[in-house]
Amino acid sequence: QHDKLALPVGTTLDRFIMRKQEDFPYATGELSQLLRDIALAAKIVNREINRSGLIDIAGAYGNRNVQGEDQQKLDVIANIRFIRALRNGGEVCTIISEEDEEVIQTGNVQGKYIVAIDPLDGSSNIDVNVSIGTIFSIYRRVSPTGAEGTMADCLQSGTHQVAAGYVIYGSSTMMVYTTGNGVNGFTYEPSLGEFFLSHPNIQSPKSGNVYSVNEGSSVSFSPGMAAYVAYCKEQGYSARYIGSLVADFHRNLLKGGIYIYPSTQKSPKGKLRLMYECNPLAFIVEQAGGKASNGYMRTMEIEPLDMHDRCPLFIGSVDLVSQAEEFMAREL
Ligand code: AHG
Ligand code: MN
Ligand code: MN
Ligand code: MN
Repeated sequence: QHDKLALPVGTTLDRFIMRKQEDFPYATGELSQLLRDIALAAKIVNREINRSGLIDIAGAYGNRNVQGEDQQKLDVIANIRFIRALRNGGEVCTIISEEDEEVIQTGNVQGKYIVAIDPLDGSSNIDVNVSIGTIFSIYRRVSPTGAEGTMADCLQSGTHQVAAGYVIYGSSTMMVYTTGNGVNGFTYEPSLGEFFLSHPNIQSPKSGNVYSVNEGSSVSFSPGMAAYVAYCKEQGYSARYIGSLVADFHRNLLKGGIYIYPSTQKSPKGKLRLMYECNPLAFIVEQAGGKASNGYMRTMEIEPLDMHDRCPLFIGSVDLVSQAEEFMAREL
C-alpha cells in the first residue's frame, strides 16, 4: 500500500522534493537544492542529446579518459554541464567523475556534500540513438566545512550514501532516485520543462525471467558464471542486453531480471566502477526490494581504495541475484 505521504501521480519533482523534505525534521534544504541542481543539469543534457545528430556534438572527442576509453563528445559535454550545475548550486564541495582522473574541487568549501557521477553511461550507444543515462551518488562530507573535500570524504562505502539516482534518456526521459525512503520515478515533459511523478514508490519484482550479460565475454567466464548462464538458458529466460547499464537496469528494476557484469579476461575486476555505477544502483535496487553484490558480498559494503575502483556487479531481483551467488559460491 502507498505510504501515508503518497502524493498524487503528476506531482512535479520540485513539489515532491519539498514535500518529502518534511520527512527529515533536521533537513535544512541543502539536499533538496542539490537534487534540483541535478535535475536542472539533466534537462540541459537531455536537450543536447536530442540534438546531437543535428549539431556537431556526435562522435569521438579525440581524447582518452582515465578509464582508457575514447571519450565521446557527449561524455565531455555532459561532464561539463553536471559539474557546472553542481558548482553553481553551491551545495557540493567535491566531485568524483568517471571523466576526470582527479577529484574536482568546486570551490564551495561550505558545501556539505560529495557527488560521484557517471555523466554519460552507455557512451557506445550515443551515435546510434539507443538509450543512455547519467548515474549519481551523494554522500555527506565527513571533514569539517570551510576547506576542500578530502579523500576520506570521497572514499566512503556505499552504505554511507544519503541519496542516489539515475537519469535515463530513452523513449522518454526519466529521473529515478532514492534518499533512503523508497524509490520514485519522474518522467520529463519537455514542452513544460518539468519532471512529473510517474512511478511512485517503485517495488522491484522479487523474481523474473530476464538476464542481461554480454555473452561475447563468455569464453573467459569463471566456472560459476558459466554455470549460472547455462542455468538461465535451461530455465528459458530471455536474454536482454542493451549495452547501456542504466537502460538494462531500469528495465529489470520495473519488470524483474538480473544484470551481470562479471570478471572477464579483459576486465578481471569487471568493467563497472564502484563509486558512480555500482553503488548508486545498488542503493536504488535495495530500496526497491532488490539485491546487489559482486557475486560474493553486498556491493554497498565494499570499501573503496581508489575513486575509479572497478568491481563485478550482480544486480536486480533478489531471488535471481541470490541464485547467481549460489553458483558463484560453488566454484570457491
Ligand atoms: P560508460 O559508457 O559510462 O563507460 O559505461 C558503459 C558500461 C555500461 O553502460 C554497459 O552496460 C557496459 O559498459 C557495456 O560494456 P560491454 O560493451 O563490455 O558489454
Ligand atoms: Mn565511459
Ligand atoms: Mn557507465
Ligand atoms: Mn560514462
